[in-house]
Amino acid sequence: MSHEFFDYFEHVELPSPTLDDAEVRRLFAGTFGIEVDLTSLGSQQDQNFRVFPRDSSVPLGVLKLSNPVFSEPEIEMQDAAAATVGDRDPGLRVPRVVLGPRGPLSSWWNTSQGRIHARVIENLSGRTLMGSRYLSPAVVHRMGELSARVSLALADFEHVASGRVLQWDLRHAGRVIDTLLPLEPDTAVREFVRAAADDALRTLRPVEQSLPTQAGHFDITDDNVLHRMEDPLPDAVIDFGDVVSSWRVGEIATTVSSLLHHDGATLATTLPAIRAFHELRPLDANELTALWPLVVLRGAVLALSGRQQVRLDDANSYAGDALEREMLILEVAASVPSRVMNAVIRDSLGRRDAPDEVWTGAPLATFDRVTALDAGTTSPLNDEGRWSAQGALDDAALASLDDGADAVFLPAWRPVLTEAPARTPEAPATIPTGVTVWLAQPTPISRIDDTTTIRPGTIAVSDGGETLTISGLPSSGDDRVLPARTRLFVQRQGADVVAAPERVTAEMAAGWRTVLGDPAAAFGLTPPAAADTGGEDVLGRREAVLAEVQEHYYTNPPQIERGWREYLIDIDGRVYLDMVNNIASVGHAHPRIAEAAHRQLRLLNTNSRFHYRAITEYAERIAATLPDELDTVFFVNSGSEAVDLAIRLAQASTGRQDMVAMREAYHGWTFASDAVSTSVADNPAAVGSRPEWVHTVAAANPYRGTHRGADAVNYAPEAVQVIEGLADSGMPAAGFICESYFGNAGGVALPDGYLRDVYAAVRRQGGIAIADEVQVGFGRLGEWFWGFQQQDAVPDIVAVAKSIGAGQPLGAVITRREIADRYRTQGYFFSSTGGSPLSSVFGLTVLDIIRDENLQENARQVGAHLRSRLEALASEHPIIGAVHGSGLYLGLEFVLDRETLEPATRDTAAICDRLRERGVIMQPTGDHLNVFKIKPPLCVTHESVDYFADAVAHVLATGW
Ligand SMILES: Cc1ncc(COP(=O)(O)O)c(C=O)c1O
Repeated sequence: MSHEFFDYFEHVELPSPTLDDAEVRRLFAGTFGIEVDLTSLGSQQDQNFRVFPRDSSVPLGVLKLSNPVFSEPEIEMQDAAAATVGDRDPGLRVPRVVLGPRGPLSSWWNTSQGRIHARVIENLSGRTLMGSRYLSPAVVHRMGELSARVSLALADFEHVASGRVLQWDLRHAGRVIDTLLPLEPDTAVREFVRAAADDALRTLRPVEQSLPTQAGHFDITDDNVLHRMEDPLPDAVIDFGDVVSSWRVGEIATTVSSLLHHDGATLATTLPAIRAFHELRPLDANELTALWPLVVLRGAVLALSGRQQVRLDDANSYAGDALEREMLILEVAASVPSRVMNAVIRDSLGRRDAPDEVWTGAPLATFDRVTALDAGTTSPLNDEGRWSAQGALDDAALASLDDGADAVFLPAWRPVLTEAPARTPEAPATIPTGVTVWLAQPTPISRIDDTTTIRPGTIAVSDGGETLTISGLPSSGDDRVLPARTRLFVQRQGADVVAAPERVTAEMAAGWRTVLGDPAAAFGLTPPAAADTGGEDVLGRREAVLAEVQEHYYTNPPQIERGWREYLIDIDGRVYLDMVNNIASVGHAHPRIAEAAHRQLRLLNTNSRFHYRAITEYAERIAATLPDELDTVFFVNSGSEAVDLAIRLAQASTGRQDMVAMREAYHGWTFASDAVSTSVADNPAAVGSRPEWVHTVAAANPYRGTHRGADAVNYAPEAVQVIEGLADSGMPAAGFICESYFGNAGGVALPDGYLRDVYAAVRRQGGIAIADEVQVGFGRLGEWFWGFQQQDAVPDIVAVAKSIGAGQPLGAVITRREIADRYRTQGYFFSSTGGSPLSSVFGLTVLDIIRDENLQENARQVGAHLRSRLEALASEHPIIGAVHGSGLYLGLEFVLDRETLEPATRDTAAICDRLRERGVIMQPTGDHLNVFKIKPPLCVTHESVDYFADAVAHVLATGW
């Protein structure tokens, strides 16, 4: 029976039909009774056109001219499979045959190239994921879901033609590769494909007889799904040309392979697709073993047949363009042995079935006094940015040997932080696949069946089914004696030895670990109980115990346990560039702060009602940064408290209650600071829920506010009108508050003269002008130490916090003596730890560092450079609406349309997520959460901001 149907092995050379447009149009009109226009579409083995009724821009559908080798039942089967999927899963869009005036548009044509079947199938709206742009984890997940849903819909689909033999049927992959390899002229390609395929076939062989089969689409790839313009997640599956009955697991293997050539794709980025498939269509143990080998084999078949197709048919540019992508798929898929990736997959599905293998033979040597080194993120070896480079590890190990240890070792499979801040977009390889060991004495290794020198300095030691490789030996010497005081690296393998790197990424570690196991027992070493390596669910515990509204950045945040300068480091030893952290103003873990705090903690820390030097000095130093009249200081613990106190001061000193505040601002969470906060990003109900004593004026945003560009001069008179209106109505305001540089909107400068005019109006009415400098003050703006200096205006009260304490809870309110004095009417003021000895020492040291390290000037220079890089990006990418800010308070605003300024909120979040994948911490701000808040530690370097700008450029160019 099957001989009636297509058999690939009888048609290894399969050029597509190549009818010209005129002939197609003529035949179309003749058979279907419709005059049409055509645009040609790519296809590897058919000829496809998009067809438009004459004079219409709405397509009639896609005309498919099937390769003449396919029989009528096979073509009918494709349409029936599509219809079955559509019927069983109505939420999934699939193309069906279009009905014309004379019935379904499906017919045989007698053409100049013989008898060819022509049919028109629906042209579904949307875009494919064609090309190599980045696919987000959500899109990858959706791909797995679509694959599973089609598999479920076709679970019991049967058809006479389903036994045809297609080259894409992964059951035949081995044979297809054997057929095509000899035709491949490039030796390097031949050797690479052969090795990759052999590894895959070896892993597949034991389970292939047990794999469940069913009908499937078997081509649910990036090219064959569609998403609607407004939604990046695909919801349609097209091209049922490869329907056949095959291994069920082949469906997801095919889908996964199509993800691997996309920008930023790694083995681990495919896991969301596999998880999604498995959730809907669970994979059994045999399928889990077969999955990755099939991904590799699909890559091998794609690469070989693509190259062969191009050799046959130079004009087929569809196949030509795909060559590079196809080879990349194979390269990525085969970049680790299939067994390793299978174990990674099992681990990610919670299906880790094998315990770690350990050395089961007797130890080769044992030691009495053993010290384990910790080189992880939280290890003291990494303090003060030492990053325990190899040299530092050697020093620590030798020091332990000097102290009497017989052996010192660094355990396998524990993350190590040994690289200086690597500015690479990929997650670094931080997990050692073996034990590093230093010995006090030359140590003969006992109980060896067999020792082989693999290469100079490396030996393999076998015992039963296990092998140890020991490297770092002197290249000449007795390879049965391990040298003293030398760093040796020991890796264990089972019977099937594979080439394994010394370090792997955290994402791949579970897979390698299953395959390699732990060699520690070979030296009688017992790894200490694991430090925090992410195995336990700290995030779950956090969510269980903290209030839900006390949120964290990112859905799946990295666990950050260390910082250094402008870097943050997670427990896997991944280094991130922190572009968002104005709290860490002078840089993370600054040694001067650590030292000063340490000394103060050993001396005294108490409440501020005691008399000690630091509070006095600190108050003097802060006042000295301000205009002379701002000479009186209050200390509190946060920005909210500072703003709250500033409002109370205004109210107490005027005997009034009403406050005027700028809209779209965030000033804090305490009662009064929250009352004047109207940012809907922080509180969606903010605008409609202000207490009666709060009056607002328009957000003076010259970019997207009510007055734009040159019209921004209108904001000040409007605000003045509100202030005067209150006075006219007999309720003059106690004061006016706003950020003196619009931080919440992403670092937008207020219109020139705004604060001067508004402050003057407030004062005319006897009110008080408050500057919230919590975000923008203290040198960050580069050009100016305080935000109000940019406006050439002086407030009556300054509220500041955040960066002044470099992470220590510290806030200050600075005002004129007479305003402060009038607060006495309310009793005395006291915020226990505000200005404590420790806080004051923090504050003083921050001021010292800003001065000694020239950080305001750094903010000016590095900020200007970054701003120019961002402006260059804005000129290339229409999604960037504006670059805001000054110094190291910059905003990059994303819009869907530069005219309407429709905020690109979803894109901004997605770009932040992708930046994190590339090692950059960035978060959105503004009422529409469409602005990057760029406010790194003030010590950020030129090189680091270039890394940031390059990362943004890459993401904008390759997708998010
Ligand atoms: C402008 C402004 N004012 C006040 C605050 C409140 O500061 P804190 O969080 O220290 O209470 C913030 C916090 O983000 C702020 O951005």
